[in-house]
Amino acid sequence: MQITLKNPLDMHLHLREGEMLRSVLGFSANSFIGGVVMPNLSTPIIDAKLALSYRSEISSLRDDFEAISTLYITPKLNKTELQEAKNLNINILKLYPKGATTNSQNGISSILDSNTMEIFALAQDMDFLLSIHAESAGFSMEREYEFLSIIKQIAHTFPKLKIIIEHLSDCRSIEVLEKYDNVFATLTLHHITLTLDDLLGGGLNPHLFCKPILKTPKDRDALLSLALMAHPKVSFGSDSAPHLLSRKLISPASAGIFSAPNLLEQLVELFESHNALENLQAFISDNAIKNYNLNPRVRKTITLTRKERIIPSYIPVGSDSIVPLNAGSTLKWSIQDISRES
Ligand code: NCD
Ligand code: ZN
Repeated sequence: MQITLKNPLDMHLHLREGEMLRSVLGFSANSFIGGVVMPNLSTPIIDAKLALSYRSEISSLRDDFEAISTLYITPKLNKTELQEAKNLNINILKLYPKGATTNSQNGISSILDSNTMEIFALAQDMDFLLSIHAESAGFSMEREYEFLSIIKQIAHTFPKLKIIIEHLSDCRSIEVLEKYDNVFATLTLHHITLTLDDLLGGGLNPHLFCKPILKTPKDRDALLSLALMAHPKVSFGSDSAPHLLSRKLISPASAGIFSAPNLLEQLVELFESHNALENLQAFISDNAIKNYNLNPRVRKTITLTRKERIIPSYIPVGSDSIVPLNAGSTLKWSIQDISRES
């Protein structure tokens, strides 16, 4: 039995920089035609010039992978810079609440103040998408829920601004997706398959520590349903976020799950086990192309076949390593062929 997927896209991805970038990019480029590349580098992508050089670096490493750039919103972002970005075909702004996650210290502390609202107004006028790390600074299981009032306020004030709640993790966010025409979401593999118990219910597993934190079985099941039906307002975004093993084994451990290896294989298995394979194409590509108005530069058809393989226990990075999601487990499907259309 074979499955083919056309033009898979990863709509939320951390590729990092330097040696880490060179070590992880292949995992995404071997399965996807492109991805929304997050700007929270150690030198964050806060202007158009930095975004261009990051995009060029990625395409020089793999010209068969299209880095869809994002621009990190700082309080200093202004119209001139936004216009520069537009001229370079950069269409996504990323909002990090200050301190919410990895390298978010340059983010926004008061999201509804006049300065930030002015940036959102420009974003709406200039036809940017607004990608949001939607978490408050409150109790970790309530952070996304607490942030919803801010999402509602932005969605209501700027009805033509497309807002993407990244890595949706809480089932109480779904009603906001349903209520506001301009609110969309990405879903990760980990939030639709795992719960808080996988992180800490038995032994503590730092490789499953991420933001937003994994939630309850009820949340996971509701989000899984959205994915399996390929709800028209959701697309797949892995939030693959590699951290070196040495940074996972210290306290505080870095937040982020490295899921890039074998995402398609695991999604096929998941959708197959729920008799929903016919919706995977929309979830992995078609919804994103439509909702983000994409015209992909790279096109690929990926063929998967039923063949077992083991996910490696670690991926070397220099003298350190990164541990992938579900390391050591057996995949039921393998990629058999990748054909690129020119
Ligand atoms: C991400 C990272 O490490 O860059 N971490 C995470 O836990 N998801 C940042 C993010 O998307 O929050
Ligand atoms: Zn992320």
